Amino acid sequence: MSSEALLSAHSLSKSFGSLKAVDAISLELSGGEIVGLVGPNCSGKTTLVNLVSGLYRPDRGEVLLAGRRVTGMAPHQLARLGLNRTFQVPKPFHTLTVHENARLAAFYTRQSPERAEEALEFVGLTPLAERPAGSLNVGQQKLLDLARSLATAPRVLLVDELAAGLGPRELELVAEKLLTLAGSGLGLVVVEHLLAFLNQLTSRVLVMNAGMKIYEGKLSAAVEDRQVVEVFLGG
Ligand SMILES: Nc1ncnc2c1ncn2[C@@H]1O[C@H](COP(=O)(O)OP(=O)(O)OP(=O)(O)O)[C@@H](O)[C@H]1O
Ligand SMILES: [Mg+2]
Repeated sequence: MSSEALLSAHSLSKSFGSLKAVDAISLELSGGEIVGLVGPNCSGKTTLVNLVSGLYRPDRGEVLLAGRRVTGMAPHQLARLGLNRTFQVPKPFHTLTVHENARLAAFYTRQSPERAEEALEFVGLTPLAERPAGSLNVGQQKLLDLARSLATAPRVLLVDELAAGLGPRELELVAEKLLTLAGSGLGLVVVEHLLAFLNQLTSRVLVMNAGMKIYEGKLSAAVEDRQVVEVFLGG
């Protein structure tokens, strides 16, 4: 394992009863790097994000952020240390405005209110800033969730299926934004079903099935890997 990894997860496991949702998964990420996390429904992608971001405590394994052991820390502690995530199903405070939602995230992690403004500007939501978050459509809620996480000034960001629910133009915009973030030094893990979208972002993917890592390497080679093809095509 390289010592300079910004994020490393070592052999993380999590079971729910007899179901092994995540089974000994390891992952390394450097600053400025995007890693894709791919797998069929229920393969454990979100659970892995939940383990790394502190929502769930792993049964086994370690999470290191810039070499510091952060396993078992709560999400707000990790957010203050620069590790944050977006949610597959965003849950903004519906009655608060877009602006207030972003500011709350900044406040919570001791960032300046300007961070929140910048984050909204970055995702293009400034024109909707005074709207109640509950009035946004699915795509806009996803962008707000991205802004919320960016308002906490992350060094590592785990993005859970941001693209689902976005139209082609929004998808293009989001891909551009994620590349800009990586360009500024953030490390990103991007969970995604849309491989064409992922292909715009990264060449490195990790493929999960039934909680296990079945492939790690180039996306172009993954689509020719026998096991990956069987899992995706149900062969
Ligand atoms: N809190 C929980 N309690 C019980 N089972 C859970 C819990 N969270 C996840 N699971 C189960 O763990 C497995 C992996 O779920 P997970 O949400 O991580 O999959 P996923 O790869 O993100 O799927 P999708 O592509 O549909 O988002 C599933 O069988 C799911 O039902
Ligand atoms: Mg999921």
